[in-house]
Amino acid sequence: MEKSASTPVHLQLSPLTDKEFAGFQKLIYEWAGIHMNESKKALVSGRLMKRLRHYNISTFSDYLRIVKGSEFPEEKQIMINLLTTNETYFFREPKHFDWLRQKIRTRNTAEKFRLWSAASSSGQEAYTIAMVIAEEMGPHGWEILGSDISERALSVAINATYPIEQAAQIPERYLKRFCLKGVRESEGKFCIRPEILQNIRFFRVNLNEALPQNFGLFDVIFLRNVMIYFDRPTRQKVAEGLMHFLKPDGNLVIGHAESLHGITERLRAIKPTIYVARTNNFT
Ligand SMILES: C[S@@+](CC[C@H](N)C(=O)[O-])C[C@H]1O[C@@H](n2cnc3c(N)ncnc32)[C@H](O)[C@@H]1O
Repeated sequence: MEKSASTPVHLQLSPLTDKEFAGFQKLIYEWAGIHMNESKKALVSGRLMKRLRHYNISTFSDYLRIVKGSEFPEEKQIMINLLTTNETYFFREPKHFDWLRQKIRTRNTAEKFRLWSAASSSGQEAYTIAMVIAEEMGPHGWEILGSDISERALSVAINATYPIEQAAQIPERYLKRFCLKGVRESEGKFCIRPEILQNIRFFRVNLNEALPQNFGLFDVIFLRNVMIYFDRPTRQKVAEGLMHFLKPDGNLVIGHAESLHGITERLRAIKPTIYVARTNNFT
């Protein structure tokens, strides 16, 4: 069939070459600390192809020039959004929340209880933490900061509205108490109640760059399922950088598939994936 003059004509895209892939590997490592091995070539090609179409260019070399150049400064963040993996869900790795509940119950201070979800993705981790705390402590006396490098994921987090299918991840009592089922235009969705939202703020933080100086100290930092994307030097830098944000008895929590073994001597495991800062050589 012949195309009319108004039909957009898509250029034939050239496949991603090894050299071009190396260019993207270098960029995402420099910008986000993310180490992508050769097995990620198809993923990179698949996720970035739509940007070639967007600019009506046919090679990934042209796109590399755009993303590195100054003409389209927003493209860097768009590429980061596309190349990060934001998979997450409510009540992921539930043992951490059992531990958190116990930590709250054995606290003996009136100080504000502060938590940081440092790779929060689209917010499910921060809201899970919030529901557990709110059940134990009520609406006051605590706060959560959520942060991520992906602005796309953060906008979902800030919106606090999720497809109704995800409600199945949340135990019934939390769902009833802290979530609202959407009606009319929000049919098929649910959202997080204001009493939870009032205690949570989200920010863009790149863990591979200098960390914000105005975040204060935390009782717990969740750093789950992000270190798997980093190489050893980046893991070390990130773990040791976050340590400075812990209160003296504060904890760093990592994912069950992760370990800080051999990464830093400055944190001591109190459970397999839960750490506390070492105060001296004997603890
Ligand atoms: C797989 S998700 C984990 C989400 C959540 N913590 C969990 O365990 O379910 C990993 C998140 O890390 C974020 N991320 C990757 N590199 C990052 C960096 N350098 N700084 C901040 N966040 C980063 C990604 O954008 C993504 O949202």
